[in-house]
Amino acid sequence: SPLEQQLKDLQSFQVIAHRGASGHAPESTMAAYELAHEWEVDYLELDVQITSDGELVVFHDDTIERTSDGEGKINDYTLEELRTLDTGTWFNEANPDSADAAFAGAPMLTLDALFDRFGHDARYYIETKSPQLNPGLEEALVETLEEYDMVESGRVLVQSFEQDSLLKVQALNDDVPLIQLVWYSPSEEDDSRLVEWTGVTPGSAEITDEDFQEVAEYAVGLGTNYLYDGREVIDADFVKQAQENGLPVHVYTVNETDDMERLMEMGVNGLFTNYPDRLLELVE
Ligand code: G3P
Ligand code: CA
Repeated sequence: SPLEQQLKDLQSFQVIAHRGASGHAPESTMAAYELAHEWEVDYLELDVQITSDGELVVFHDDTIERTSDGEGKINDYTLEELRTLDTGTWFNEANPDSADAAFAGAPMLTLDALFDRFGHDARYYIETKSPQLNPGLEEALVETLEEYDMVESGRVLVQSFEQDSLLKVQALNDDVPLIQLVWYSPSEEDDSRLVEWTGVTPGSAEITDEDFQEVAEYAVGLGTNYLYDGREVIDADFVKQAQENGLPVHVYTVNETDDMERLMEMGVNGLFTNYPDRLLELVE
């Protein structure tokens, strides 16, 4: 089945366009996803949040200042209010070398608009962002995934830092493949294998097979950082241990070619990147 094929594909290497091709076009806008889709990435990565009137929007931050001309909390606004914002001009100002007049005025993207545009011709790697700030998010998301037949057709992964959010999605539809995001960080100066694994077993010491197995009970993979304070915190042993416990490893967010190469050498199963063009060049 298409869903089985998707799970099989997770065993090989996945190119994941982080907020679209967000190094080249404003993050989370249609322009960024158009570019990534054109380049034939494996997944379009996106964060979803819910408006005050219950609509799903593709947006990363809890507040709208950084990437729009508005201010305040995203959940305080209706979709209609958010649709009047410009989510493109900030990018042109911040990135003169990549600026494009066509980005100016980019409206905030809805999940419906993204699915209407690419349908089953793409795969989507969807993060339930800030679940406590977005009550009803999981219900609305699963409803939309079902409406567009994204699950059985092997088109979607749902990712979250919050285990509770993933379990909520699973309770609503237990076919949705889930990715547990972690923030992996050393807790002792001289041993990068002594960690705090936020979101799963906070404050634990060395990561154990049981830690991975606990995740593997509900998730099909793991998404992790690789840097903490500029220092690399994962290694080939971490990757192997996760994989041996049934969890492919995807690493966020990797933008430099030499980092991509080194992580690929470690045997990771995919990278989130703002520059999928750079990664695709290495994969080919
Ligand atoms: O979803 C993987 C990665 O995107 C997590 O970090 O803050 O970019 O959503 P963030
Ligand atoms: Ca994300």
